[in-house]
Amino acid sequence: MAIHANARFWTRIGVNAILPAGARRDELVVEFQNVGLRYGIGPEVLRDISFRLEAGAFRFLTGASGAGKSSLIQLMYLAFRPTRGLISLFGHDVITLPRRQMPAVRRRVGVVFQDFRLLDHLSAFDNVALPLRIAGVPEAQGKSHTEELLAWVGLADRLGATPATLSGGEKQRIAIARAVIAKPELLLADEPTGNLDDKAGVRLLRLLEELNRQGTTVVIATHNEALVSRFAHPRLHIEDGDLTIIQPVESAPPVELRVAAP
Ligand SMILES: Nc1ncnc2c1ncn2[C@@H]1O[C@H](COP(=O)(O)OP(=O)(O)OP(=O)(O)O)[C@@H](O)[C@H]1O
Ligand SMILES: [Mg+2]
Repeated sequence: MAIHANARFWTRIGVNAILPAGARRDELVVEFQNVGLRYGIGPEVLRDISFRLEAGAFRFLTGASGAGKSSLIQLMYLAFRPTRGLISLFGHDVITLPRRQMPAVRRRVGVVFQDFRLLDHLSAFDNVALPLRIAGVPEAQGKSHTEELLAWVGLADRLGATPATLSGGEKQRIAIARAVIAKPELLLADEPTGNLDDKAGVRLLRLLEELNRQGTTVVIATHNEALVSRFAHPRLHIEDGDLTIIQPVESAPPVELRVAAP
């Protein structure tokens, strides 16, 4: 798959010039305090989760299948409220945030859903262009950015295709393009490499690191241990409903092999 990591992608396609810069470095983007979540009368899926993400953070989110990664992502996206505890997003207390203000807060967040959630009646182009249209970017300007980003994910020749005619990996790439095109302040990616091969996964991570360097706070839920171990970012790990923060293992400096002089 042709995901070409490019050092200054958003600068080059001009998105920097048309959208406001990301959150300030010192801003607290996400804060969870003693958050618990249960679905209906089921057991608590998450309990006493507390963590903070400052602007500019880059975190993996790991845990076994069913551990609660997607649930945590949905809480960060305000898809629903926690059963207990406090969540704040960009300094807004989510529990007391009036419902009518939620869309404005959500627009600052880009999400790659585990099940993609593309709009089936829209083409690949229109799915990806949607966040720019919502942000009020002029159509002509948005068109070139959208085309360039779709080319970047290797789908330049599928602009008019609807999701039903695309493969799982193609849909995933469209979901990724849609989530990043407007340079969100917070990017939540739920298994974004699930349908990509290893090489494309690494390239995607490099692009997300570039987005992160430009100010976006990034959270990536993943099962892909090999990928996690290749990138030195802390991970939020969920096990038995509890969350621990695991710092990356410092990679040992390369050992220099010296051949003894004869
Ligand atoms: N809408 C729901 N209603 C009831 N239970 C749910 C719902 N969504 C998730 N769960 C349950 O909550 C737990 C956590 O699910 P979640 O999808 O957050 O896990 P996950 O870590 O993302 O798993 P995976 O790695 O398989 O994607 C699971 O036991 C799941 O069955
Ligand atoms: Mg999940």
